[in-house]
Formats: sequence, C-alpha cells, structure tokens
Amino acid sequence: MNLLNQSFVLPCGKSIPNRILKSALSEGIAEANGRPSEALFNLYDQWGKGGAGVLFTGNVMVDKDHLVNANVMIAEDERYLESFSKLAEKAQANGSQLWMQINHPGRQSPFYLDKAPVSASNVKMPGKLYLEPRPLSPDEILKLIDAYGNAALLAKKSGMQGAQIHGAHGYLVSQFLSPLTNLRLDEWGGSLENRARFVLEIYKDMRKKVGPDFPVSIKINSADFQRGAFTEEESIKVIQMLDELGMDLIEVSGGTYERAAMVGSVQRESTIKREAYFMDFIVKVRKLIKSPLMLTGGFRTVKAMNSALEGGELDFIGLGRPFCLYPTVANDLLNGEMKDCSVPDLLTGVEKIDQSGMLQTPWHQFQLIRMGKGMKPDPEMDVWMVYEKITGKKRPV
Ligand SMILES: Cc1cc2nc3c(=O)[nH]c(=O)nc-3n(C[C@H](O)[C@H](O)[C@H](O)COP(=O)(O)O)c2cc1C
Repeated sequence: MNLLNQSFVLPCGKSIPNRILKSALSEGIAEANGRPSEALFNLYDQWGKGGAGVLFTGNVMVDKDHLVNANVMIAEDERYLESFSKLAEKAQANGSQLWMQINHPGRQSPFYLDKAPVSASNVKMPGKLYLEPRPLSPDEILKLIDAYGNAALLAKKSGMQGAQIHGAHGYLVSQFLSPLTNLRLDEWGGSLENRARFVLEIYKDMRKKVGPDFPVSIKINSADFQRGAFTEEESIKVIQMLDELGMDLIEVSGGTYERAAMVGSVQRESTIKREAYFMDFIVKVRKLIKSPLMLTGGFRTVKAMNSALEGGELDFIGLGRPFCLYPTVANDLLNGEMKDCSVPDLLTGVEKIDQSGMLQTPWHQFQLIRMGKGMKPDPEMDVWMVYEKITGKKRPV
C-alpha cells in the first residue's frame, strides 16, 4: 500500500491531502523590487498541477534591505498583497496548499546585496563574499519579531494556507541559536533558553496574528555540522520547546552555507542505507514530541518514503531538488507511475567543488528560471556553465 496517499490532520485542525510536500526552493525570479512576478506565476501554475500536499514558497524576506539573493520575494508590508494573492491562486488551483516560508539572512547575505549586514553578534562569515555583521539592538530584535509575524499575516491575507519560519541553514534564526554566531550577553544570548528566545518569540507573535487554526511551521537544523555550533542535543531541546508551544509541523534539515549538509555534502553510513540525510536524528526526536514531523534531504524512492512512514518515524516527506526537474513528481509518486525521483549528481570531477555542494543550489535554480519562462527543465544542463556563471571563473581546460 502506498502510504504517501494518506491525508493528515495537523494540530490546528487543517487537513493535508497527502504526505509529499515540496520543501522551500528559493526561486530567484521575483521582480527586482521583490514583487511576485509573471515568471513566478508560471512556475507555481506548473507546480500547482503537480499534486504536492503543500508547496512551501522559497524563502520570502521580512526586510527589503537584507536579502538572501537577488530577485527574492519580499513581504515587508502589504504593498504586494495582490501579487501574493495571485501566486496563491495559481499554486492552489488544484488542491495543493501554498505556505509562505519566512526568512531574514542575517550575516549570510553577499556584500553586493547587503552593505550593512546585521546578526546576533559581529561574527563574520568566512570568505570574501560577506561583510562583518553589526549586532542587532534589543529594539531591532523586537521589530524583527514583529516583521516575521506580519509576514505570516500577509500570507494568510493573500489566501495562502500556512506559514513557515526558516530556522535552518545558517540564516538569522540559526545565527541566534548557534553559540558560534551568538555571543550576546543579554537575554537573547548565552544559555540555550536565551538563544532560543528569538525563534520562540517569533512563533508566539505569528500565532497571535494568524490565530489558532492557521498552520504555523518551522524548518530547523538537526545540527549545523560545525565545531562549536548548534548541536543535535541542543536542537532536540529547542524542538521540544517549540512542540510545547504547539507547532503544527516541524521540518528537519541541517547544515549551513559553510557546510552544506542540507544537500548531502555531509553523509553518514546510515544515510546511505535509508536515503534521508537526517533519519537517525528524527527517530530520536519522534520519541520526545507530539508535533508532526517532516524530513527533507535525500529522499528519492517510493520504497524508502513508505518505509519511513510505515515505521512511524515521521509524517511527511519533504522533497526539494526533484521538484526542479520533475514538476509533477508528487502526482507521479502518488499514483505509482514513478518509483524513483533521483536527480543528477552534478559532478565536475574536481573534488573540492564536488564535495562542497556549491553547484547544487544554482544548477537547480537555473531549472526554475527555465520553468518560469515556460520551458521544460533540462537534466543535461552543463555543470561547468553554472560554475562559470556563479564564480566568473573559466572552467579548467
Ligand atoms: C535551488 C534550491 C533552493 C533552495 N532554497 C531553499 C529555501 O529558500 N529555503 C529552505 O529552507 N531551503 C532551501 N533549499 C533546500 C531545500 O529545501 C532542501 O532542504 C534540500 O534541497 C534537500 O532536499 P532534497 O534532497 O530533496 O533536494 C534550497 C535548495 C535548492 C536546491
């Protein structure tokens, strides 16, 4: 029996039609000012016909002055409400739900986009691409919490059916959680309770604004996979705190853009057996909490997905990269037409490039650009072309 087809009722009462959810994929095709564009409407029109229970948007910014990448959607206020509504209409025309993923990059924003980055503390990202961030003042922290809550309310007003806090991958919420990037001595830093205060307050503010029956979710790291950073033990404790507050759905991922575990560049023996990168972690969490769980990263076969659901280790399968190549992947897996949704390995043969996972995001983003233009994804797309475009360097001869 294909368990992927079962519906599921969240704690807030909302029902999700099946167990395959499209994880957030930053599209990079909004208008330059952050308004949802025609290209996005095209893309979500295709995904909306693809059968996913939930389509999480790519991360949407809470502050126009701090962006993860160019052409990202911005939900700082209600000026683009009409366009967000159109996006929701396209995505939800056939029964999928559109949920907005809400984010602030903090220190993880390149210098050409953010000349004055902010973070929990002044700990710079390594490398020339990033500037040293300025620590946020307590007043600014409160304003940002309000901004996350307002973005969730905008999602609701636009007709979207849920909101998600991006608490993973080294962005601002992650930066507050990690002792490597949060050196604060006030109530927002130090003990785990203090470092978690930012995300807990964001959740409370969102809940107050959207009400008890609107789904609120979080994507969180199982660990940052860096020495001295947010650990598995700490993540479990924070997940327990979020569970106590009544989180509707907890999505587990891992890594940061310094260590790209989210796309599989840190693999363990057990992962290779069960496909999903953070399975061992979710098994531990499952025993301790009530909130529904979604696991994203590495799932590719119906067999492994069903086995995870059957074992009761999780409730939802999150898929990212397969949606960039196969827009109808959810329907195809649900009706049994597709048994395996693997994507190319994207190997250049240069170990340093291949191990870093640096081509994974841009190569897949190029596929989204094609879809936005009404073209089909191209599984044969040249990896070196992508390398040259993002680094400005020539491929080795
Ligand atoms: C092009 C691209 C864009 C992404 N953008 C986001 C994002 O905006 N927010 C997020 O939480 N994760 C983002 N991710 C990570 C994915 O949601 C997912 O966690 C990761 O791809 C692992 O899942 P997969 O093995 O099924 O691809 C992105 C990944 C890719 C490839």
